Amino acid sequence: MTLIEYSSESQRIAVDEIIDQFTIDRDKLDEIVSHFIKEMRKGLNAPVKSIPNGTENGTYLALDLGGTNLRVCQITFWGSGKLAIKQEKYEISDSLKTGHHSQLFDFIADCIHQFLIHLGDVHDSTLSLGFTFSFPVDQTAIHKGALLRWTKGFSAAEAVGRDVVEMLHEALERKNVPVKVVAMVNDTVGTLLAHAYENPTTIMGVILGTGTNAAYVEKLDNIRKLNLNGSGDMIINMEWGAFDNERQVLRLTPYDEKLDQLSLNPGEQLFEKLISGDYLGKITHNVLLDLVGRNLLFSGRSSNKFDNIGAVRTPHMSIIEADATDDLAYAKQLLEVEFEIPETTLTDRQIVQRICCAVGLRAARLSACALCAIIKHLGVENQKSAVGIDGSLFEFHPGFKHNLKQTMREILGNNADNINLEQARDGSGVGAALAALYAEKDHADFSS
Ligand code: GLC
Repeated sequence: MTLIEYSSESQRIAVDEIIDQFTIDRDKLDEIVSHFIKEMRKGLNAPVKSIPNGTENGTYLALDLGGTNLRVCQITFWGSGKLAIKQEKYEISDSLKTGHHSQLFDFIADCIHQFLIHLGDVHDSTLSLGFTFSFPVDQTAIHKGALLRWTKGFSAAEAVGRDVVEMLHEALERKNVPVKVVAMVNDTVGTLLAHAYENPTTIMGVILGTGTNAAYVEKLDNIRKLNLNGSGDMIINMEWGAFDNERQVLRLTPYDEKLDQLSLNPGEQLFEKLISGDYLGKITHNVLLDLVGRNLLFSGRSSNKFDNIGAVRTPHMSIIEADATDDLAYAKQLLEVEFEIPETTLTDRQIVQRICCAVGLRAARLSACALCAIIKHLGVENQKSAVGIDGSLFEFHPGFKHNLKQTMREILGNNADNINLEQARDGSGVGAALAALYAEKDHADFSS
């Protein structure tokens, strides 16, 4: 990091104090990992029992709701780990996210219909679909589960407590779309299934994107210890975004508190709010507005655009963090042209970059704690294994992967090198289709 020439001592002190609040030291890492392991057993929920081995084949539809876009896919598995995908993305407006659930599900049914028309695949016979629904669900069977709560900016009315597959079927019937939902999975479960299809050493599917969460393969012995019925391996959806809502180990800065208070779900998903793409930009924005308000940034001058709630998004942070030009030219362009801040000095831009990096680094370190907790719980530190990770933060955020791996080394030592962090692609689509394939071919595998 280049040395910053602060314009005053009070500016330096203020910035250092803020960075300090976002810093997670070695002891804190260990404390979070221990607490995470303790809490892990609370969220057990084990809907899928089969892990792919690459030999599966067939053609299925998949639907993915819960990231930035809605996606509809058609996936053909050729066996031998190969597959072909056709897909379309549809933007979901905020009014659909926060209106009545029937409008949201009608929109989804329309998108599926449109996709089938483009595909030239509207038959009289009913097509089978796997649904990746990336929200907390109390899942009682592979195609059954009630929505526990919305996350990530969704709040569609009269949906919580209702069976998700049923809501979709109602809309498909209203819209006369000949599709049957045969399986529902969380995106983390989909990612785990899809990645295991490619790499059988996969032990975990992780999402580091709009939201964050993981699913892992629990060992039979542990399942027995927990008195869960069943045989073979089980996939556990962690819902780790809700980790430590009780704040036993998580410390929130005033900037996180402000984000939480203004969110649709105050007090919930605190771990997710410190980590995922839906929130990092907002936290950074809160810090910058505070510094401007104290006359310590941009000479105290903001702009209407910059003052808007939600102005700074996580991809903006990526641009600033990745800016390696001497005068931080990309940051200048973003701040002065896009956000219309009258004038910025190099010091201003360096401070902004330092803040972005600190918020991003904390997110990576917290993610590492969660990953290591699961690895320690499973006792697989010494074993070569793969973790399939999907999501924009992991794929695109500068330094995120590096910081994640470095922190894992701090926690696990050299054993961290046994764990391969692999980019999982399209787990939500492929995994849902695999779940649909299992549900149709071997129903018994899924009864939980
Ligand atoms: C949120 C959802 C969870 C999902 C994650 C990643 O945390 O509650 O179900 O897996 O986002 O999309």
